[in-house]
Amino acid sequence: MTAAKLPRHLAIIMDGNGRWAELRRRDRTFGHLKGARVAKEMIEHCAQIGIEYLTLYAFSSENWLRPRTEVTFLMKLLGRHLRKERRTLMKNNIRFSVIGDIERLPGAVLEEVSLTIEETRINTGMNLVFALSYGGRQEITAAVRNIARAVAAGEIQPEEIDESMIAANLQSSFLPDPDLIIRTSGEYRLSNFLLWQAAYSELCITKTLWPDFSLDELTQTLQQFTSRERRFGRTAEQVRQGPTSQQAMV
Ligand code: IPE
Ligand code: IPE
Ligand code: MG
Repeated sequence: MTAAKLPRHLAIIMDGNGRWAELRRRDRTFGHLKGARVAKEMIEHCAQIGIEYLTLYAFSSENWLRPRTEVTFLMKLLGRHLRKERRTLMKNNIRFSVIGDIERLPGAVLEEVSLTIEETRINTGMNLVFALSYGGRQEITAAVRNIARAVAAGEIQPEEIDESMIAANLQSSFLPDPDLIIRTSGEYRLSNFLLWQAAYSELCITKTLWPDFSLDELTQTLQQFTSRERRFGRTAEQVRQGPTSQQAMV
């Protein structure tokens, strides 16, 4: 597959760790451990095939509501994973960043997050983004609050607010919109993930539980993505005529 046909920004909702473990009569944490290993494999592979941006939904705003033992385990796993994998990120020239309300993370985890961001800042390859303590509604709410402050301060007029201003005020403003969102475990929902940015994302839902998601399935999914026609509201004929005629229609 040529790089040009790959999604520029691939986002993954890594779901199904708990069910994977329960099927094996194991504790849910066993599924999270296997899930973290799969994430590592996917990250390295995506960097090698030339994905520009990879966003992984690792922990949602609502996941704080889970039993305390599970939240504690996930936080420890995250901290350990980052500490261990910094070397892998450096080796693969991957730049790490996060979106989400990271102030809610335990201090030790926040420290690992900050160190990883700092250390990988010089890398020029794939941008890896972890969505941590992330919620799309919360992100949009914060952007609206910023803009409202600027209006209240008389810096901008309400009429000046447009889509690009809203996008620029999102925490994820450094990211292009995701071209493809994959969700594992067969759930047909976004669960508060990139709500604004997903307006025209292609969606791919697989029944496979995240710990069973393989490089083969990723390759198949990426191939399926290349065969889709993205019309962005236009007709198929306009799309086939190419960008010049599309621009003329705007
Ligand atoms: C995804 O797997 C990981 C996180 C949300 C942190 P789940 O833990 O949601 O697994 P299921 O959906 O209960 O099987
Ligand atoms: C979404 O999965 C969040 C992550 C994968 C991190 P959830 O398991 O939390 O989603 P719901 O609750 O089934 O919608
Ligand atoms: Mg789940």
